[in-house]
Amino acid sequence: MSLPRTVLILCILSITASAVDFKKDIQPILEKNCYECHSEKKKKRKGGFVFDELETFKLDIADNDVAQIRPGKPAESHFLEVIVDPNHDRHMPPDDQLSSGDIKKLTDWIKEGATFDGRTSSTAVADVAPKRTLPPIMSWTNAEGKTIKAGFVRLDGANVVLRLPANAAEVAYPLAKLSEASQKLARDCAAP
Ligand code: HEC
Repeated sequence: MSLPRTVLILCILSITASAVDFKKDIQPILEKNCYECHSEKKKKRKGGFVFDELETFKLDIADNDVAQIRPGKPAESHFLEVIVDPNHDRHMPPDDQLSSGDIKKLTDWIKEGATFDGRTSSTAVADVAPKRTLPPIMSWTNAEGKTIKAGFVRLDGANVVLRLPANAAEVAYPLAKLSEASQKLARDCAAP
């Protein structure tokens, strides 16, 4: 099988394999275990965190060192660390332990990009959203073999517009400077 074909299949798999849904799978866990102390509605903002008001919750989700949740990086998400490690100084919830099933759902949700609607990156509201569900962060390689982690926005002439996870900035990258496989990935992601 040729390499581009493999990439196409990977692309399709990552498009369709969104297993965790925030509303259905994640919100109920937070509601049951966390809203008591982290809720805008209840005016409980322990540690400054609220999880029921999504515009505020969003501010804690970004790919940088201070964010509680790093999309695609459960192992680097402090939010998960305090839930998983029973001996953490600030273990959450303070007097309880989430089930391993709930922890797995939260881990998968973060792994899949920690989005609220399963479609757009939670750090940015897409104005030109792709027609299909694409992962917010994908791996691209340029012609020199350097990896670029970014979300696909659209094709624009000879450029692919990528969204950088760190600051949600959109950058136009010349298709010709990407590896052949990444050029193909961009075209596949843009296909209707
Ligand atoms: C009984 C109240 C209570 C519940 C329930 C609770 N928290 Fe907290 N949470 C706190 C308090 C108080 C702090 C601030 C701790 C501190 O700064 O020492 C905090 C802080 C945090 C922090 C920041 C930790 C840090 O190291 O600064 C996170 C993340 C967090 N909570 C997540 C959660 C999650 C997720 C849940 C549900 C699974 C949850 N909390 C349930 C009271 C609670």
